[in-house]
Amino acid sequence: MKPRVLITRHVYPAAVAILQEHCIVDYHDTYDVMDEERLAKKLQHAQGVLCQLTDPLTANVIAKAPLLRCISQIAVGHDNIDVAAATARGIAVTNTPGVLTEATADLTFALLLAVARRLPAAEQFLRAGKWQRWDVDLWCGADVHGRTIGLVGLGRIGQAVARRAKGFGMRVLYSSRREATAAVEQELGAIRVPLDALLRESDFVSLHVPLLPETKHLIGIEQLCGMRKGAFLINTARGQIVDEAALVAALEEGLIAGAGLDVFEHEPQLHPGLLALPNVVLLPHVGSAVTSVRSLMCALAAQDCTAVLTGERPKHLVNPQVLA
Ligand code: NAP
Ligand code: GLV
Repeated sequence: MKPRVLITRHVYPAAVAILQEHCIVDYHDTYDVMDEERLAKKLQHAQGVLCQLTDPLTANVIAKAPLLRCISQIAVGHDNIDVAAATARGIAVTNTPGVLTEATADLTFALLLAVARRLPAAEQFLRAGKWQRWDVDLWCGADVHGRTIGLVGLGRIGQAVARRAKGFGMRVLYSSRREATAAVEQELGAIRVPLDALLRESDFVSLHVPLLPETKHLIGIEQLCGMRKGAFLINTARGQIVDEAALVAALEEGLIAGAGLDVFEHEPQLHPGLLALPNVVLLPHVGSAVTSVRSLMCALAAQDCTAVLTGERPKHLVNPQVLA
């Protein structure tokens, strides 16, 4: 009998077609987000689930899905999934790394440029009909070219951002649990330093680590106090890596110059202080939001889900021990 797969939310059509070849698909084709109770009910008879970073695949939900064999996430980050609980049950967890790296690095650099050069505020000024003439100090911002960028995490996206920074003639520092290979360091011109030195020396601090217990609130008030007064914080990783209340306080007090944020601690809710600040650029988690990329992510997740359910090896397994 064909396995049953739940698609939790609206996806690009390629994913549905791929799954329908081998599975009975229960497609929840809406933009609604199911809470734990609803998701658990929907998963009662499912062997697979194609899910998104909005879906709470908690230990509790996993425990109530007795037939589940595969959780396929349409994203690289998978902090919404209790991977330990899935692994304990032998459930494969897959994700979609790689295909979104360049798009997310582009967006990171777009945010960096937008906040440094005050682009959204300058555009709003123009659209509001306030532009009278060219002035020598009209909408002046901060230099990007030749400044120092500090990358927290030098994985796929961190490295792709470093390549862009190199093109802008920037000095590249990074902090990471493990040292990158000499070849990578040389190609990127990246120098590994401890986090406190990176914060002290960087004009732009950009976050590229996954959300893990040890990276939650990695950037709090102490770290923000350790940054340069004229520095900017860029976060396209996960909101909970930054203590958002501390960031608002630091920005209000002028401890740092500004922030470019694509992710938030309690998405889609924002700390109310953020919206009132003039020196932040805020985006609704659109790091990988390029049509071709999102379509590929959907297809990749569907292929990996099908692979697990038909006894083949998926391309991107988060917990390889389950298929050892
Ligand atoms: P990746 O290749 O796995 O890179 C993550 C890097 O973080 C690795 O180099 C890893 O080093 C390092 N790291 C892990 N824990 C660390 C710690 N405690 N301290 C310092 N470094 C640590 O992942 P990626 O593809 O670049 O994606 C990174 C994250 O970006 C994802 O997890 C996701 O949350 C986020 N993301 C956001 C968007 C968006 O739309 N805004 C899009 C894509 C991804 P090790 O080698 O030591 O493990
Ligand atoms: C997006 O945030 C992702 O992790 O792919």
